[in-house]
Amino acid sequence: MTLTVVDRAQWRGTNQTLAIFTFTGQKSIATPWLAGLGRVLWQLASAEGFRGKAEEVAVLHLAGANARKAASRVLLVGLGDRERYGQENLRKAVAVATRKAEGMRLTQFGLAMPHPTGTPPLPSLEETAQAIAESVGLASYRYEKHRSKNEDRPPSIRQVTVIISERQTITAARSAIRQGMLFAEATNFARDLVNEPPSDLIPEQVAEVARSLGSDGTVEVKIFRKPEIERLGMGALLGVARGSAHPPVFLHLVYRPPKGVTVKRTVALAGKGITFDSGGLSLKSSEGMETMKMDMAGAAAILGVFRALPILKPPVIVHGFLSVAENMPGGAAMKPGDVVKALNGKTIEVLNTDAEGRLVLADALSYAVKESVDEIIDLATLTGACIVALGDQVAGAMGNREDLLERLKAAGAKVGEKLWPLPLVQEYREQLKSSVADMKNIAGKREAGAIIGGLFLQEFVGKTPWVHLDIAGPAWADKGRANGVAGGTGFGVRMLLTYLTEFTN
Ligand code: BES
Ligand code: MN
Ligand code: ZN
Repeated sequence: MTLTVVDRAQWRGTNQTLAIFTFTGQKSIATPWLAGLGRVLWQLASAEGFRGKAEEVAVLHLAGANARKAASRVLLVGLGDRERYGQENLRKAVAVATRKAEGMRLTQFGLAMPHPTGTPPLPSLEETAQAIAESVGLASYRYEKHRSKNEDRPPSIRQVTVIISERQTITAARSAIRQGMLFAEATNFARDLVNEPPSDLIPEQVAEVARSLGSDGTVEVKIFRKPEIERLGMGALLGVARGSAHPPVFLHLVYRPPKGVTVKRTVALAGKGITFDSGGLSLKSSEGMETMKMDMAGAAAILGVFRALPILKPPVIVHGFLSVAENMPGGAAMKPGDVVKALNGKTIEVLNTDAEGRLVLADALSYAVKESVDEIIDLATLTGACIVALGDQVAGAMGNREDLLERLKAAGAKVGEKLWPLPLVQEYREQLKSSVADMKNIAGKREAGAIIGGLFLQEFVGKTPWVHLDIAGPAWADKGRANGVAGGTGFGVRMLLTYLTEFTN
């Protein structure tokens, strides 16, 4: 898919479809585009019931040589109320336009870039251009590698021409579009990994993906296989993998800024990479397992980030620590009551083998701490309880540094990825006390399950500034949404890229 930026004089509308964005309650299409037809077109659209509401779309066919120079067809797309305008409404509207164009079996269309100005400050030209590119890139994503050919399915969009008016600077728009496309591409990369069937993407396959990210030398990749994981002493990761026919891997990726750049800080990203979570001997129900190929979404998001880092070149060193294993109930599986020892020496009584994410992360976090990084951000599809608390649009954020959490939240807000703080209530720590080991992996009761998960992880980060993101809800979409088909969402990729490039000063 390509996006190009042109100014109005360069746009040739004959036989083309042009998406134009409007607010609710406008009286006319306020663009100089349409050869003075703005008012008439608006009347036609409103006669069909179009009001310019969010996610509303109308198709208008233009007649007359003059009008047809602007476009043969107009997709009128609602942005909703002008007072509530922001990148979020824009992203949704662009996604609606993209999917509508696809439904019309188009492979290309033009898009008149909206750029309203006013107070309070509305998205800048760059923010607008980036949001458009991200949205087109995410909305046109499909996961079709396992489908046989079907002529009924519309082809996907191949080309979008973003048209800006002369007073806007075309070079600034172009680089913002490039960045938006990169963000979408990195996100779609993560979505592919999440959507892959679990028997295809086994831990060794994830290692192969990491290896390919390092193949051009821009990212260092170290792959630890079972013997090295044993030597390192990652007993928790090994315990989780014991019931599977596929051995675990531990991946260490490093991005370093180009020579001569002053490094601002060193950030570690730790990811849960359970390629399939059956629950182990604490077996899940069939229904509970249906989507459990997504249990490596944290690791996938981090791999997506590493795909974009060498192109974005932020002035920070970024480490990725991924614990990758399959949680299965095989004959050698870990049993409730077993005790494992994590890399930092702490012993854990495993009372529920389905609380495996915190176990594999215990080793990844311990490892990150030893590398003496400035801060650690972990991403994990850790608890169903977090979905109960915050739903499927919001990640739970917990940690020992409020400022780090706030910066991540602000980075997420910029790209429409929501996270919300949950308190690490220290009084609940005693629920993790074990009668035989240093701690146990579940509390005796179901209350505050997401927080209990966070408190468990806290035992492995020492004093290092750390935030845990429980992405169990937003990592997966049960149904298609405006901005994407059902399945993996790639949640976290764009937030982290924004954080690493704009919020690490
Ligand atoms: N991978 C699951 C969490 C999950 C559930 C993610 C649903 C996405 C959708 C995790 O390993 C798990 O099973 N957690 C348990 C923890 C419990 C045993 C303390 C849970 O949430 O039930
Ligand atoms: Mn589990
Ligand atoms: Zn899990």
